[in-house]
Amino acid sequence: MATKWAPDSWRGKTALQLPTYPDAAALAAVEGTLRTRPPLVFAGEARNLKRQLARVADGQAFLLQGGDCAESFAEFHPDNIRDTFRVLLQMAVVLTYGASLPVVKVGRLAGQFVKPRSDDTETQGDVTLASYRGDMVNGIEFDEAARIPDPDRMMQGYNQSASTLNLIRAFAQGGYADLQKVHQWNLGFVEDSALGERYRDLADRLDETLSFMAACGITSETTPQLRETDFFTAHEALLLHYEQAMTRVDSTTGDWYDTSAHMLWIGDRTRQPDGAHVEFMRGIANPIAVKAGPTTKPDDLLRLIDTLNPVNEAGRMTVISRMGADGVGTLLPPLVRAIEREGKRVVWVCDPMHANTEKSANGYKTRPVARILAEVQGFFAVHQNEGSHAGGVHFEMTGQDVTECTGGAQAITEANLSARYHTHCDPRLNAKQSLELAFLLAEILKDGRDRKPHRAQAGG
Ligand code: PEP
Ligand code: CO
Repeated sequence: MATKWAPDSWRGKTALQLPTYPDAAALAAVEGTLRTRPPLVFAGEARNLKRQLARVADGQAFLLQGGDCAESFAEFHPDNIRDTFRVLLQMAVVLTYGASLPVVKVGRLAGQFVKPRSDDTETQGDVTLASYRGDMVNGIEFDEAARIPDPDRMMQGYNQSASTLNLIRAFAQGGYADLQKVHQWNLGFVEDSALGERYRDLADRLDETLSFMAACGITSETTPQLRETDFFTAHEALLLHYEQAMTRVDSTTGDWYDTSAHMLWIGDRTRQPDGAHVEFMRGIANPIAVKAGPTTKPDDLLRLIDTLNPVNEAGRMTVISRMGADGVGTLLPPLVRAIEREGKRVVWVCDPMHANTEKSANGYKTRPVARILAEVQGFFAVHQNEGSHAGGVHFEMTGQDVTECTGGAQAITEANLSARYHTHCDPRLNAKQSLELAFLLAEILKDGRDRKPHRAQAGG
């Protein structure tokens, strides 16, 4: 029998990956201030996302989740927010067409500031310092003072999240997300891409469809759905001091919601069933996800789901598998079979980033686009075999023209990585690589659709 949950009940459990703040009074003061700040999202929006995720779980929608590995204070700029948002919209249009399904868009942004680390310390030469844990905890500079956890960074992260979300809301509802415009950007991408020919057919067919709709009088002037979109936020709920301070009772339902984002996830390093992160997450009513890496055992996953979603509520639980291109074919099927056997309602998502990281010969943390695509293909193949729904994808990407992942049509080589390697943590797909993957994914989705000719077309 589970013990009683409270927003602070996690404090009685073992918490991995949390910083130790040297000044307890300063920490308590920041937590107190955060508790008085407005929520970033409204509980009703989180419930809306949960309803949409329930449709994803049933195979009636597809989830696209993407954004920075780690947002940073230094890269905070409206152009960066706009460019990432724009690429996500472009990808979503391509995927909507490929899948013939609505695409639920969730950004890894407006709160993705805290990182789990494999090592507590970092050594350069003969100096060893505490590891960087994300801008909301400490500074990335290799400097002893910068690496001391500073609670004031939580306020800066909150303020940056509020500004980011404000701009995103304006873009999503104010005309920037107009389907016709997004489609024109995609046509520009196809013109410029070295692999453009491969994508032209899909782009042309989309063009024809939009022209046909316009001829029927369905345009963004006549149909608000074509100029506005729903866009949701998500981040890893790692820094529990911050998440607790943002957790409030919803006045309409009496339930607790973490108002720092619509959706929160538990990382692969903090998913211990009796740990602090699972304890915190079980009590909030938001849609939540858990990362499942290669060490995840079917029984562990079932136990986690029992704790996190005891009533098997649809849309509540997403499992983000990150097994690696080589592992997905053998490691994912036992998990899928266990979940299907027990009748658990989950959204299956593929994160093809975190288990395909390697070190280049010249010392950069990188990811080959070919391996990323291979894991996505493997993920779809598993679900095809098991008769389950491949619900979505989770990418680390940016709208900037960075050189962090190798390959793609631009053929970024290891020697090119140093040109524009800007990430604060893991290597991200750049704008072109992200769109290429969306086009390739659209082909996979379309093939899957063609293989199920008798499925009733989903409404909505
Ligand atoms: C992440 O999503 O940035 C991350 C650290 O992932 P994981 O927990 O899967 O390693
Ligand atoms: Co990452």
